Amino acid sequence: MGKSKIGLLGLGVMGKSLARNIADKGNVTSVYNIPFPGEETVVRDFVSTFDDLPFYGAEDMEDFVQSIEPPRMIILMIKAGAPVDEMMDKLAPLLSENDMVVDAGNSFFKDTERRSKSYSEKGLHFVGMGVSGGEEGALKGPSIMPSGTAYAKSHLLPILQKMAAVAGGDPCVEWVGPGGAGHFVKMVHNGMEYADMQLISEVYDVCKTIFNLSNEEIANILEGFSAIHKGYLLEISIDILRKQEGDEYVLDTILDVAGHKGTGKWTSKEALDLGIAVPTMTAAMNQRIISSYKSLRSSLGSSPKNHIPFTTEWAEILNKGFLMARMQGHIEGFHLIQDASNDYNWNINMREVASLWRGGCIIRSAMLPVFMEAFDTHPGIQHLYHAPNIMNILEDGYDSARKINALAAEHGRSTPCFSAAIQYYLSVRSEKLPINMIQAQRDYFGAHTYRTIEDPDTPKHTDW
Ligand code: 6PG
Repeated sequence: MGKSKIGLLGLGVMGKSLARNIADKGNVTSVYNIPFPGEETVVRDFVSTFDDLPFYGAEDMEDFVQSIEPPRMIILMIKAGAPVDEMMDKLAPLLSENDMVVDAGNSFFKDTERRSKSYSEKGLHFVGMGVSGGEEGALKGPSIMPSGTAYAKSHLLPILQKMAAVAGGDPCVEWVGPGGAGHFVKMVHNGMEYADMQLISEVYDVCKTIFNLSNEEIANILEGFSAIHKGYLLEISIDILRKQEGDEYVLDTILDVAGHKGTGKWTSKEALDLGIAVPTMTAAMNQRIISSYKSLRSSLGSSPKNHIPFTTEWAEILNKGFLMARMQGHIEGFHLIQDASNDYNWNINMREVASLWRGGCIIRSAMLPVFMEAFDTHPGIQHLYHAPNIMNILEDGYDSARKINALAAEHGRSTPCFSAAIQYYLSVRSEKLPINMIQAQRDYFGAHTYRTIEDPDTPKHTDW
């Protein structure tokens, strides 16, 4: 076997799947895994298990780098954070000019920006690459969000296009922009993922605690939702609702406390820093945090009020309201990406982002073509509330979302994402907000001045 076309370092669950995907497309692939205690035979075992694929199992780092054809392309599939910096430091002295190192983990985009600069000073290319789709996506075709130099793009994109999921005939990969753009887009994807997940759990909760429906009945309701809802998270939630082990539904045995690895939290923090409101995504993040107050909740928790009968009318309200709130979560995500793109000069093509999320990734759903249509018909649109096809759906679903939220509140159940979605919608559609009072209060206690309706450019102060 000659030199490898590409290398992949890090044979964890995701790394193994991605390596198999790359090699399956006919690319001779060098693989390597740092032999931490207990992992000494990982490379050998992997290569021998998949001996029908063109793998080269490297002995050590030097052998790994040398086995790859220059200019080298090396994908890191390792834990985000310090391990990436450590690996970059180990690799740098072994690399040659114009070699490319691709970080395919969920790294923080500002780290990616910093790493890109440090590698470019060494004559190397660092690519931040968001990859979504979990283990199965990595193997069968993920959604891929790379960013970096034009040089790296010209070498990597043809390979990534063969590895990615396909939707509507297009590969679910786009070169998102330079520097940290790819990891930023992946971060926001995860914020949107949190909102979608939370909204599904709010629908589940309303059905279970207020309508007293069984898991099977709830699964049937989700299955009956309109075609626009079709997508990965809804599908897996239906499967989850139906899964039994023995006589028990697995879902009923699972503790109501959810963790997170950071991407959803970064989304909210970055949005605040950029001055973009993302309340629906943030509500989902907050609910995971509140879920961890388990002992407080157990000591204070009350049972929901009596049940009410489920009707076909309610099925339609859930369907429409859920759509309105999901759209709102996505709108916040796209707004955030657009604003970051302006701020950081990334020149991200929003239509391409919507397009590459149609397949492979966790938030893939039939809603994404609706966003593509909005970007197609309104190129350069800064806020999707300006797009009539989006606004029509919001207007159509608002009343249903409001009814779900009101019903839940009446019955003592929380629906934070529904609530956040309708509040954003109402606020943005209010020509007049009571923020004149905020201005006055600030001026009263801090002489911060205020601006008037008549002359907004001249700050005024009143001796209150
Ligand atoms: C994906 C997922 C994946 C992972 C997230 C979520 O797009 O394939 O988003 O990256 O599941 O890290 O993790 P947390 O819920 O733990 O934050």
